[in-house]
Amino acid sequence: MQVAIIGAGYVGLTTSACLAELGHDVTCVDIDSNRVSLLRDGIVPIHEPGLEELIRKNGANGRLSFTSDVPVAATGAEIVLLAVGTPKGAGGEADLSQVRAAARTVAKAVRPDTVIAIKSTVEAGTARLMRELIAEVRGALDFRVASNPEFLREGSAVTDFMQPDRIVIGADDHDAGARLVELYRPLTKRGVPVVLTGTVNAELIKYAANAFLALKIGYINDVADLCEEIGGDITAVSRGIGLDPRIGTSFLAPGPGYGGSCFPKDTEAFASIARRYKAPQPLIETLIGRNQERKRRLAARILGELEAPPSKAKVALFGLAFKADTDDTRESAALAIAPILRQNGVAVAAYDPMARVKIGGVVQHDDPYAAADGADVVAILTEWPEFAGLDLKRLAKTMRGSVILDCRNLLDPRRVSKHGLRCISIGRAQMPRKASYLHPPKAGKKAGPAAAAPNQV
Ligand code: NAD
Ligand code: UGA
Repeated sequence: MQVAIIGAGYVGLTTSACLAELGHDVTCVDIDSNRVSLLRDGIVPIHEPGLEELIRKNGANGRLSFTSDVPVAATGAEIVLLAVGTPKGAGGEADLSQVRAAARTVAKAVRPDTVIAIKSTVEAGTARLMRELIAEVRGALDFRVASNPEFLREGSAVTDFMQPDRIVIGADDHDAGARLVELYRPLTKRGVPVVLTGTVNAELIKYAANAFLALKIGYINDVADLCEEIGGDITAVSRGIGLDPRIGTSFLAPGPGYGGSCFPKDTEAFASIARRYKAPQPLIETLIGRNQERKRRLAARILGELEAPPSKAKVALFGLAFKADTDDTRESAALAIAPILRQNGVAVAAYDPMARVKIGGVVQHDDPYAAADGADVVAILTEWPEFAGLDLKRLAKTMRGSVILDCRNLLDPRRVSKHGLRCISIGRAQMPRKASYLHPPKAGKKAGPAAAAPNQV
């Protein structure tokens, strides 16, 4: 099929490359002409495993091209997918201005019978609104609008697109639905299930899915806090509850609070729509506040671990990306924590294997040991595998202090302590346990609740 994709960001680029790989003829458009020039030269402006290879391959075989001319791309297309940004609006709702602008441009250009599907994450009712807007600009109702939300994750976008758990298609008329089902035929014939429903349902599915996943993370973070107080181990607890298939093991890793370009804005947008329709989502409202507070509390925790006054102390942040395998720093833990440390006068250094971002007063290094040089505390904020293999002997020598705050539970605290460092992990008893029921305390010493639970996973 002839497909035009509007927006060459994480979603637009991945969708373009993957649909071309599945055999479609794809034109990907972005108003950012620099981005388009880079892409035409085979340079991919984002880090996404496997994406560059797909773009080069399908560019070379002629199935994928790039332009900054939206009308030209839209004119030739049977299906137009809108994959532009929907950032957070002033009141928490999704800012639909990019979607509206793209819809207007497309409206004038598309040929009759084109299906215009919204892939961006938008609030329920947007497809219907865009249908009205396009009809008004076009002066005719000879096109169809549909919803086709995307569920890929950054860092595994290509695999997620090519092997999705499901494809959601929202269409209010049979033809639009059938055309989108056809688009995904190469995947559905491999057994990928399709949820074919109305546009409002498809739009709701996207927000409700993201909010639910974010809730899982928020919940496990709260349980992790309890584990620390009681002396439990969140790794065991998480696995123990996740093996119940009704719960599932994924998205139960505690951390510094979820970040990224999606969960924070999408939970806020979901809560905002719900308030507007007078069907509030108190679980989500609470989650949003807890997640923001979590990052502030981590900053306070770092400050509390300093052995020198803040103005004489140094902290090294390991990880600027909001998660591993991406260079995206939007709403990352580092972006929330570093400014608080700086406001308290702490010198802050940072290292990330891939992400670069300017944070006022933060010195970024290309090497973790250079960042940790003279640091009182090292805080691991992103779960880059590289951090699990840190040379602890070298780190201990380089640091001035001895605290490693491992917000992703990558390190074994006992191994860390062998190098004279103290590892604070998330949701685990903080001191190496001296007694357990397997190794009872010496007579006269009382075992607290921490001693009561085995620490095996
Ligand atoms: P992004 O910011 O990386 O990319 C959006 C692109 O659209 C930009 O390159 C911008 O220049 C371009 N653009 C804006 N207006 C345009 C116009 N009128 N014509 C042509 N191009 C235009 O955004 P993203 O991360 O790819 O997200 C896009 C949408 O998909 C959002 O709604 C997001 O919530 C949703 N989503 C994102 C992810 C993800 O992992 N990033 C996953 C699923 C869904
Ligand atoms: C998320 C969803 O997973 C995708 O399905 C969705 O398509 C996308 O949002 C979107 O709508 O844009 P993404 O933001 O790329 O994808 O990344 P995730 O892997 O979901 O991680 C989000 C945040 O949660 C990260 O900060 C991550 O570190 C954190 N997280 C994730 C945890 O703290 N614990 C976990 O167990 C999982």
